Amino acid sequence: MLHTKYFTIVTYGCQMNQHDSERLAGQLKSIGYEYTEILGEADFVLVNTCCVRESAEKKIYGKIGELKTLKASNPNLIIGITGCMAQKDRNKLFEKAPHIDLVLGTHNVHQLVELVKEFEQTKNHVLSVWDEAERLAPDVPTIRKGNISAWVPIMYGCNNFCTYCIVPYVRGRERSRPIEDIVKEVHQLGLEGFKEITLLGQNVNSYGKDTDQYGDFADLLEAVDQVKTIERIRYMTSHPRDMNDKVIDTIKNSKKICEYFHLPVQSGSNTILKLMNRGYTTEYYRELIAKIRKAVPHASLTTDIIVGFPGETEELFQETLEFIKEIGFDSAYTFLYSKRSGTPAATMPDQIPAQVKKERLQLLMDAQNEISLRINKQLTGQIVTVMVEGPSKNDESRLMGRTATNKIVLWDKQGTEEIGQLAKVKIKTAQTWLLKGQLIN
Ligand code: 5AD
Ligand code: SF4
Repeated sequence: MLHTKYFTIVTYGCQMNQHDSERLAGQLKSIGYEYTEILGEADFVLVNTCCVRESAEKKIYGKIGELKTLKASNPNLIIGITGCMAQKDRNKLFEKAPHIDLVLGTHNVHQLVELVKEFEQTKNHVLSVWDEAERLAPDVPTIRKGNISAWVPIMYGCNNFCTYCIVPYVRGRERSRPIEDIVKEVHQLGLEGFKEITLLGQNVNSYGKDTDQYGDFADLLEAVDQVKTIERIRYMTSHPRDMNDKVIDTIKNSKKICEYFHLPVQSGSNTILKLMNRGYTTEYYRELIAKIRKAVPHASLTTDIIVGFPGETEELFQETLEFIKEIGFDSAYTFLYSKRSGTPAATMPDQIPAQVKKERLQLLMDAQNEISLRINKQLTGQIVTVMVEGPSKNDESRLMGRTATNKIVLWDKQGTEEIGQLAKVKIKTAQTWLLKGQLIN
């Protein structure tokens, strides 16, 4: 009898990577591999990598080192590297870690099966990294990780070239998927039992700008909102510059699009925003938020912020602190600026010392945590609607769900709840990152 071959995929980075891993898993299953969670049990380990910050790369090199030990005890183990680091570093990966067998770029993840076969025949390093993407990535079998919530890419790549960011170099130019394909996929996911979908793109608000055939992001949202088989629609990530009245109106008038806006501001200083090539000012951003709050009063608002960008003086950092206090974000993802070679910011003058960056990050997080807690506390006593996602990670007797505004809510399981259904919970206590409550029957 043939021994079953097992694969595992270790994924780093953003949702687009998580989704790519679902497309990689589907391909491996189609050639007879079965999934295992256990690294030591796998015949094939694929690492789907991220290079947006140096900290991610360090972690991944650590993991690749770990795999060397694993291979020493199992010489037949196949090790593949894909994702943004593979696209960026290519054959340098073999030089740094000769125990890697296969390097696959971001533009041709659909070729995994061919390349695995090539390796099985030749037993030599296989390197396949395309410089450019095809307009449309071919369909491949996909194995979704969850069964309630699914990711649906609507566009690939980014044309913005923010000066700190490596993404446009490893993900290529913007390519939108046809609106009919997206709607069909969403409809199909609904039939399969998924309740919530997240439309994915590096810059979803530029959906359709690369062609005159599919309409714009608002048209897409409107079309997806009509799909009867699903209940909730999310999307990410938005660029504030490209968020417009038409999109805000569409969200306001829709039933299914979540009242949640993630709008990465990156800095609260116009000097820094300009150096970052973000294409907007704090005045513009402030007005945008006012418009959103007027149109969708209960919307929640989150952001991304980078501290320690080159040229960020103490004073300019204070502007960011003031700005987040003024806007009052529900939460913020905060990052230390990380120098990415090949990007314009890497060679800008006045790079900020690591220690200063860390201190600023701490100040920023402290300020934001206080704001998040204050906003969450306003929800105590209120009844919120959540989609039941499953047991809480740390406590099986509790269930976890998310509001349309993307707040995590925990409550003691009553037994009547069903995964994927909407439930009403009365909020009893608020914390910085989550809310706790009681199910209302
Ligand atoms: N250093 C730090 N943070 C970065 N981001 C992107 N590039 C860098 C970098 N070089 C952050 C931005 C972006 C988020 C996904 O990652 O805030 O919105
Ligand atoms: Fe990077 Fe800016 Fe594109 Fe986002 S919009 S992926 S931060 S270049």
